[in-house]
Amino acid sequence: MTFSRILPCFLLLALQPATPIAAASLFNVTAVLSAHTGLSAFTALLSGTAIPSDLASRTSLTIFAVPDSFLPASADLTSHLPPSSLADVIRYHVILEYLSPADLLKIPPSGSLFTTLFQTTGRATSDFGSVNITRNPSDNLVSIHSPAPFSPYNATVLGLVETFPYNLSIFSVSSILVPYGSDLTASETAPSSGLNITKALIDGHNFNVVASMLAASGVVEEFQADEGGAGITLFVPTDTAFSELPSSGSFQSLPADKKSVVLKYHVLHSYYPLGFLESMVNPLQPTLATEAMGAGSFTLNISRVNGSLAIDTGIVLASVTQTVIDENPVAIFGVSKVLLPREFFNKHSTVSTMSSGSAMSSSPLPDTAAMSPGSSSPGYGGEPSHVSSPPGESTGAADIIVRKLILGLCCILMHFVV
Ligand SMILES: *[C@@H]1O[C@H](CO)[C@@H](O)[C@H](O)[C@H]1NC(C)=O
Ligand SMILES: *[C@@H]1O[C@H](CO)[C@@H](O)[C@H](O)[C@H]1NC(C)=O
Ligand SMILES: *[C@@H]1O[C@H](CO)[C@@H](O)[C@H](O)[C@H]1NC(C)=O
Ligand SMILES: *[C@@H]1O[C@H](CO)[C@@H](O)[C@H](O)[C@H]1NC(C)=O
Ligand SMILES: *[C@@H]1O[C@H](CO)[C@@H](O)[C@H](O)[C@H]1NC(C)=O
Ligand SMILES: *[C@@H]1O[C@H](CO)[C@@H](O)[C@H](O)[C@H]1NC(C)=O
Ligand SMILES: *[C@@H]1O[C@H](CO)[C@@H](O)[C@H](O)[C@H]1NC(C)=O
Repeated sequence: MTFSRILPCFLLLALQPATPIAAASLFNVTAVLSAHTGLSAFTALLSGTAIPSDLASRTSLTIFAVPDSFLPASADLTSHLPPSSLADVIRYHVILEYLSPADLLKIPPSGSLFTTLFQTTGRATSDFGSVNITRNPSDNLVSIHSPAPFSPYNATVLGLVETFPYNLSIFSVSSILVPYGSDLTASETAPSSGLNITKALIDGHNFNVVASMLAASGVVEEFQADEGGAGITLFVPTDTAFSELPSSGSFQSLPADKKSVVLKYHVLHSYYPLGFLESMVNPLQPTLATEAMGAGSFTLNISRVNGSLAIDTGIVLASVTQTVIDENPVAIFGVSKVLLPREFFNKHSTVSTMSSGSAMSSSPLPDTAAMSPGSSSPGYGGEPSHVSSPPGESTGAADIIVRKLILGLCCILMHFVV
């Protein structure tokens, strides 16, 4: 399917009288897209976000729309992904510049970078909110991909859908565009499902306590099930970390259901290689416990301290000491301390336990209201309204979600590529 096919179409359009659309600032993108039935799934995704109102005040735009026939995973996208992350991916399909078909044919073979609406959210790292558009000089095939080096995903321009010079162009493209996927998609190995986590931990020697706790609690089956999805990242405390817990410590005396929440607190619901964790801009990460207990609770603060990766729970500061497994979709890292969530443990009583030796179990656990969903921080599984919140407010959570989304998308894309 070469780009030249769209030219006759463009000429026809150009010969037609100007489409009766009022002022440039009054473009209703939803209405324009809705006129094209073959784009209904993409249009539904886009109009489910704040993007139409973002765009209402802009005049020079190009939209890369994915036709229904190229968007078979749309149902999966909307059911698996929080609305705010989906919105950022859709924003990546909107270029803040008017490009006519002729403009595309002038793009140099070496490519040009174009800023997308996603870049304006402040959630894109470096220039990964841009797309690199290249043209094959031999067949004029125009491709769009992330400027991230080695990004394996790209979309091809299929044709012109509609153009309103010099305000809005809509082109159809062969695939969803995934922003900055390089860190996550660099691995070309197919996801290895069926890794036995218990066995991997026992083989790691220093993780017998956590291995038996995971097996006993049954959560390992849940984790194992996640291998098939976006993958998982586990932080496993060393045997020493468990032996250093205060002997009167309340972790051992927690009821089984809370113990299993603490174990889930050690797991991120996506596969993150070490380099990706190290380069995280926004440290607060939701965990599997967040999913169980409610948005904003049970987050881990992952950052670099003294040049190595550290995990701050607000109660303990643990460091990542080793990589046990890094096999997409499973990453397992050894950590120096048991990650005690502040929702169950009180810093003051932990400190006083360690200094005075008083029984930590005497410290009251916070009531469940403190862990109820929707309380403090925004983001994870958040309301659609977060989509429109300005950068900075919910940046951390949104960034996390975007990364999760990218992983999800990559898995879906991988599925179709294979
Ligand atoms: C397109 O934008 C120009 C300004 O660049 C404006 O004068 C014109 O009315 C707009 N056309 C349409 C159809 O909106
Ligand atoms: C844009 O068009 C859609 C569908 O035609 C309509 O539902 C929506 O109200 C319009 N929005 C504005 C701001 O006019
Ligand atoms: C765009 O992609 C082309 C082809 O992969 C590459 O040669 C070029 O360096 C890229 N440009 C940028 C700015 O990333
Ligand atoms: C786009 O991806 C396809 C398959 O994934 C690949 O064959 C093709 O070379 C890529 N094109 C560019 C310009 O990277
Ligand atoms: C995983 O490995 C452990 C220890 O070797 C074993 O007991 C368990 O049955 C294995 N689980 C599965 C599902 O193979
Ligand atoms: C995360 O932890 C680092 C290092 O302990 C700390 O400097 C930073 O303030 C923490 N951030 C949040 C949001 O808690
Ligand atoms: C970081 O280094 C400083 C100075 O060497 C030290 O006091 C501090 O404990 C270190 N922090 C961690 C988390 O290792």
